Amino acid sequence: MSTTATMANSSESERMADPNWWRQAAVYQIYPRSFSDSNGDGIGDIKGITAKVPYLKSLGIDAVWLSPFYPSALADGGYDVDDYRNVDPKLGTLEDFDEMVAALHAAGIKLIADIVPNHSSDRHEWFREALASPKGSAARDRYIFRDGKGENGELPPSDWDSVFGGPVWERITEPDGAPGQWYMHIFAKEQPDFNWDNPEVRQDFLKTLRFWSDRGVDGFRIDVAHGMAKDLSEPLPLKADLEAKAGADGFIDGSHPFWDRDEVHEVYAEWRKLFNEYNPPRTAVAEAWVHETRRARYASPEGLGQAFNFDLLQADFEAPKFKKIIMDNLLAAKETGASSTWVFSNHDVVRHATRYGLPKGNATAAQGTNAAQDVTATEPKGQDGKAWLLAGGPAEELDVELGLRRARAASLLMFALPGSAYLYQGEELGLQEVAEIREFERQDPAFFRNKGVEIGRDGCRVPLPWSVEGTSLGFGDGPAHLPQPHWFSKYAVEAQDGIEGSTLELYRTALRLRRELQADEELEWVETGNPEILHFRRPGGWQSVTNFGDTAVDLPAGTVLVSSAILEEGKLPANTTAWLR
Ligand code: GLC
Ligand code: CA
Repeated sequence: MSTTATMANSSESERMADPNWWRQAAVYQIYPRSFSDSNGDGIGDIKGITAKVPYLKSLGIDAVWLSPFYPSALADGGYDVDDYRNVDPKLGTLEDFDEMVAALHAAGIKLIADIVPNHSSDRHEWFREALASPKGSAARDRYIFRDGKGENGELPPSDWDSVFGGPVWERITEPDGAPGQWYMHIFAKEQPDFNWDNPEVRQDFLKTLRFWSDRGVDGFRIDVAHGMAKDLSEPLPLKADLEAKAGADGFIDGSHPFWDRDEVHEVYAEWRKLFNEYNPPRTAVAEAWVHETRRARYASPEGLGQAFNFDLLQADFEAPKFKKIIMDNLLAAKETGASSTWVFSNHDVVRHATRYGLPKGNATAAQGTNAAQDVTATEPKGQDGKAWLLAGGPAEELDVELGLRRARAASLLMFALPGSAYLYQGEELGLQEVAEIREFERQDPAFFRNKGVEIGRDGCRVPLPWSVEGTSLGFGDGPAHLPQPHWFSKYAVEAQDGIEGSTLELYRTALRLRRELQADEELEWVETGNPEILHFRRPGGWQSVTNFGDTAVDLPAGTVLVSSAILEEGKLPANTTAWLR
């Protein structure tokens, strides 16, 4: 691409050409419909992202992960894709996309695109063809169609539940008007699952990966990477038997009929060959909610190369838990040759500034749909947190200040860890989850299919506040597609820009220092004798100390480079992280 040539700084162009750029990258997730709206229609768009490239550069991130931007009816926030090789006209055009990539690259920022291979949308031309074609046809074979049970096929092929609630099977009307076969959808009924045994499906995804790689996309985030491979041979097991086994051993043998089967890695081996044809090779990160012992294969160099670990995201803010998670994941990464990933917030979970402000045990509050698809989950998670959200607003037990303070400490700790840090738009502003969304404004299918049980994920998807005033606080000129609460304005970029101690400036400082200080992926623990303190060293004398306890503690010797809260008479206060050298 010509953009590398125009890059002023040669160390920056070296970084862009480095095949290992991803190993310790800070990756910023953009949920495009809620980031920045360039034309005032209330929906964030591609041109809006391009206009904010200077902001992204000033934040100091290495890459953007862009959630789906493809044509979609938004039955599941864009994770229902109509056409994998195009841009949603509501978001822009392919030309706009190319311009965005060029602007990002010129700013030294890579782009990771979200790929959704488990299912298409029900408006995809292949699915429409399948509906219009007879039973047993080649068109139906690209998806998973089955005859129903019962005398007239009126019962679903199995009693399995979908992730968003309700059955995994939906009955269709045949072209002649008669009630007909059933198709499988692990998620919403608008998201029919592909048949990955079908070579045409495999070929088509190779074509898609090539299409975006050729357009300058540097890497891919693979949605539901533990889906796709399926064994649906009869008799299909009963839901109760699946649940019992999930509770007993978490399916560590890979025998679940549709989650985390070994055959899925054949697909990734093929993708890896394609990725390695590019220079630098295209990267990939798996979204795989699997047993920790099975994560490594997704992250292997012959596979996708990296996999999310959601362990910190699911943990309470407690030192021993954090330490164990960090040690386990660094070890696992070393064994496979991958680098570790860390994440506290994304578009599927309650923002961490809110989780940490709820009573402990609520760390996974409203974990929502993904807890449900976590095959290792043995009990419902975060019920209290869900109740808090269902109650329609921050109740007494939400301590906003404490939540933010801990979130800042946790994020600063994360930025000191070896591996890639994934952050979610708005966390750099310290945004809280939005609970006060009225029913008619909600969009998430999880809310509608699971009424009264799950509040859904709209609360972390409310458009960003850029300015303190204006129709949608600088998000665009029109009202935002999901309304912003009044209190959003005090979190606006404008309110924090250049303000010492603001969350935005904390993130900027930390990300700048991280880039300067980060060397080998080594971490050495320092024993403190206090179980509430996590202290570790990185090569070059860089140290991070986090106080998870309630009282201030002495800092080790060294110069303080940055801290997530103001020090108290030279001491490290409660719920605070500091870096020293
Ligand atoms: C992933 C996405 C989530 C989506 C689901 C179905 O878990 O992160 O947002 O609903 O896949 O595509
Ligand atoms: Ca728009």
